[in-house]
Amino acid sequence: MNIILLGPPGSGKGTQAKRIEQTHGIIQLSTGDMLRATTGSDTEFGRRVKAIMDSGQLVPDDIIVEMIDRRIVQPDCSRGFILDGFPRNVAQAKALDAMLAEHGLRLDHVILLDVDEAVLVDRLSGRFSCNQCGASYHDRYNRPSQHGICDGCGSTEFTRRADDRPDAVKARFEVYRKQTAPILPYYRDRGILRRVDGMAEIDAVTHEIDRILG
Ligand code: AP5
Repeated sequence: MNIILLGPPGSGKGTQAKRIEQTHGIIQLSTGDMLRATTGSDTEFGRRVKAIMDSGQLVPDDIIVEMIDRRIVQPDCSRGFILDGFPRNVAQAKALDAMLAEHGLRLDHVILLDVDEAVLVDRLSGRFSCNQCGASYHDRYNRPSQHGICDGCGSTEFTRRADDRPDAVKARFEVYRKQTAPILPYYRDRGILRRVDGMAEIDAVTHEIDRILG
């Protein structure tokens, strides 16, 4: 099963993708996480990508498309994948269609996590994640069960993203409205777009997604 999770910044794509991985045995492919992995390296490329991400703008399509094209044919994707953060504009959606056709694959579901922008500012400003395993938490809505200790791996080191600062969040919303939202009709017209109420509690959103995935 191959699916796309769509939604504005902070709508819960990463949170839900990790849960789908566990319950459905398909792998999360987060373009944001893949890019962040490159920004740690002290290279010209890493610095360039970091500057773009920190400003809230999109990394050039050719970099992202090549990254996904290479990734979806890896053995760990053989049972399926969850695209989290890709595609992000119509050109990427078309490139995805082309690469799926080339590899004899198809899209089963496109799930939109629908959340009001006002709620998202609050979610992003309270977000932090584990330095070791990347598990995502929130100061109020999704705390580790033991204060300061990651549920996933027991690490005690956490980090906050540079692009969760208010100015970058504003830019990310703008990019979502102008470039990403126009993808919705592209999938709606093909009858594979499903909307989920992303304002609900995390467990309720998971339940709704599970109902769609069957
Ligand atoms: P990316 O990492 O993909 O960021 P994003 O799309 O902005 O999404 P987020 O990761 O911020 O949020 P999310 O929807 O995963 O929410 P989460 O589950 O964490 O991209 C970052 C950057 O990389 C881009 O700006 C761009 O520069 C670049 N990039 C990435 N892909 C690209 C592409 N395809 N093309 C070009 N550039 C690309 O949840 C947020 C918080 O809310 C958490 O604290 C969580 O615990 C909490 N929460 C989640 N669900 C709920 C709920 N139901 N109720 C209450 N709290 C909740």
